[in-house]
Amino acid sequence: MTPGRPPPRPAPEPAPTADQATEDAMSNATTVSPAHSASTASTLITNIAALVTNDPSLGWGSPRSSKFESGGGSPLGLIQDAAVVIEGDHVVWTGDQSKAPATDNRVDAGGRAVLPGFVDSHSHLVFAGDRTQEFNARMSGRAYSAGGIRTTVAATRAATDAELEAGLTRYLAEALRQGTTTFETKSGYGLTVEDEARALRIAAAHTDEVTYLGAHIVSPDYPDDPAGYVSLVTGEMLDACAPYARWIDVFCEKGAFDGDQARAILTAGKAKGLHPRIHANQLSYGPGVQLAVELDAASADHCTHLTAEDVDALANSRTVATLLPGAEFSTRAEWPNARRLLDAGVTVALSTDCNPGSSFTSSVPFCIALAVRDMRMTPDEAVWSATAGGAAALRREDIGRLTPGARADLILLDAPSHVHLAYRPGVPLVSGVWRRGTRVA
Ligand code: NIG
Ligand code: FE
Repeated sequence: MTPGRPPPRPAPEPAPTADQATEDAMSNATTVSPAHSASTASTLITNIAALVTNDPSLGWGSPRSSKFESGGGSPLGLIQDAAVVIEGDHVVWTGDQSKAPATDNRVDAGGRAVLPGFVDSHSHLVFAGDRTQEFNARMSGRAYSAGGIRTTVAATRAATDAELEAGLTRYLAEALRQGTTTFETKSGYGLTVEDEARALRIAAAHTDEVTYLGAHIVSPDYPDDPAGYVSLVTGEMLDACAPYARWIDVFCEKGAFDGDQARAILTAGKAKGLHPRIHANQLSYGPGVQLAVELDAASADHCTHLTAEDVDALANSRTVATLLPGAEFSTRAEWPNARRLLDAGVTVALSTDCNPGSSFTSSVPFCIALAVRDMRMTPDEAVWSATAGGAAALRREDIGRLTPGARADLILLDAPSHVHLAYRPGVPLVSGVWRRGTRVA
């Protein structure tokens, strides 16, 4: 049908029916010609005022970051008056709307902005209960501590599978409405072999990006025996959990696990085929970031307290720094220095860290607004980090961009540009979400 056809790919999910295609038309949109029922029906989304492709070779603009400038322009690969063609579950064409090929269906974006769906590469969504009282106490001056995790562990252990799954799907639906089309989620509120394995089994029914975090804190069942708990986490618990997970994570922090324990846990996970990522340098300086680089972790998450050596190590590695401003917001903590990381050439991702203790938000747009206002990121950098950056933190190349061959995960904003995500904080701007080529919100 068009140049730029992607290579052979796995069988796509069914394409929208004609009725769905009509629903897909925006309020001021035109749907021209009914859809074919074949799964390869093509859809043109046109009249896009500003399209974020995340292919810097395509766009205009010049943000501040030296890393981005070295790419020859905006990292966002912005195209004005643009169109995208979706076929099945993939993007097959992106470009100037006047050059768009003929398609089966057509959606008019009404002069609004289109972006890749957000990639939320860090969340903790399998839990029960909430920690309203703890949040309230913090807002009256009490400090955040890792110990609050025990409250959620008790509630999670007491919950049924159905209750945990209902909570997970509720937060996922919330995130999807706000534009998240890929999410990672973790265990870490069970801390027994059975409770960790069931959390991962429930998570794996909803996403491929599942992380084993048996090493969230030392289990309350091992009050005087952290070494015994590390043995469990690297032994029987790992055996039970590895089949459901792609990743292994450790909370490397005072009050949780030290550098040697974290190395032992991540190394054991690697031996079982899991890939490491680390909760690193969140509440204090420590060995987490250096360990992430040493083990070629996909991501070091939080990165709030960094030495110059930590920043250098990240800049000279493949490890992404994932910043989680919802956590600093909700714990009234110091912001991570995103500017310092970006200027050093570190790849930065932005995610929600959605969890009931330190960051109870599922909203990537909220995190973008915080990152721009309080972490000194430009709107371009923040949007890149929440899309392509999240994909890099999950070592994925099929998402986080809108170029031929990418998964057709995209969002339509009720705004003329992506900058409005930071310029209009708190406004529900995401007005359409497609995942794998199907309109889902
Ligand atoms: O990423 N830091 C460790 N884990 C979570 C917090 C979990 C909790 O407080 O329940 C985080 O912030
Ligand atoms: Fe976290």
